[in-house]
Amino acid sequence: MSELKASCITELDINNLELEYRAKSPQDILKFALEQFDNIAISFSGAEDIVLIDMASRIGKNFQVFSIDTGRLHPETYQFLDKVRKHYCIKLDVVFPEPTEVESLVREKGLFSFYEDNHKECCGIRKVRPLRRQLSTLNAWITGQRHDQNPSTRANIPVIQIDTAFSIGDRTLIKFNPLANWSSVQVWQYIQSYNVPYNQLHTKGFISIGCEPCTRAILPNQHERQGRWWWEDASEKECGFHGNNNMSQNGFH
Ligand code: ADX
Ligand code: SF4
Repeated sequence: MSELKASCITELDINNLELEYRAKSPQDILKFALEQFDNIAISFSGAEDIVLIDMASRIGKNFQVFSIDTGRLHPETYQFLDKVRKHYCIKLDVVFPEPTEVESLVREKGLFSFYEDNHKECCGIRKVRPLRRQLSTLNAWITGQRHDQNPSTRANIPVIQIDTAFSIGDRTLIKFNPLANWSSVQVWQYIQSYNVPYNQLHTKGFISIGCEPCTRAILPNQHERQGRWWWEDASEKECGFHGNNNMSQNGFH
């Protein structure tokens, strides 16, 4: 396939690429993504998606990394972000929400409104709007989403898709999910095999990691998603980061 041009990618191109790449390794998908786009970034949550940064650093091409700092992350996650920055010698773009929006929410509803009227409003302000701002500067992004993370919303995510939730007008944003087909076991085998640094919360019973008030450790045999927004239904456990997960495979209605 010749080099993709963000301005003229069609749904057909992406569907064909998805067919070609869906059975390939995360490393092959990531390499393809980094070769095709200069203006591409890894979206790093500070959890198991560290494997993407490790893989990208071994591929040897330049890559950008950003993390959305909601202001409510665990101390362990802040420490980990900094450890990753130093370990891989990378510039990590830490992206913050608009202060006036956070101030207004907190003034009106306090610091824990998500326990009363669900997480959508707070996630919208602290996560999704800063993400939208960051993605508006990019042609493509790379996430650590996997099928096994949420059977209700992630079972069918493709490895390559048009991100219809964050494309702006005729500016098409491409989204890569290189780990989509990997299980948690495979991720941890990789972390151990390559001595990859990890968030210390993983040693305390945490698997899926988000904001401190909305994430908790899980018990043996609980699904990892039970540690996130535990007071809400499984089908609600998305923050808007991955807005096209509930659309058809490639993000088209
Ligand atoms: S979430 O939408 O429920 O919070 P999850 O924690 O499963 O997402 O992470 C899935 C992927 O979303 C991560 O691998 C990462 O690519 C992206 N992501 C989630 N949270 C952040 C964050 N705070 N900053 C950057 N990327 C994130
Ligand atoms: Fe707010 Fe919780 Fe969403 Fe973090 S996960 S932005 S604290 S509702």
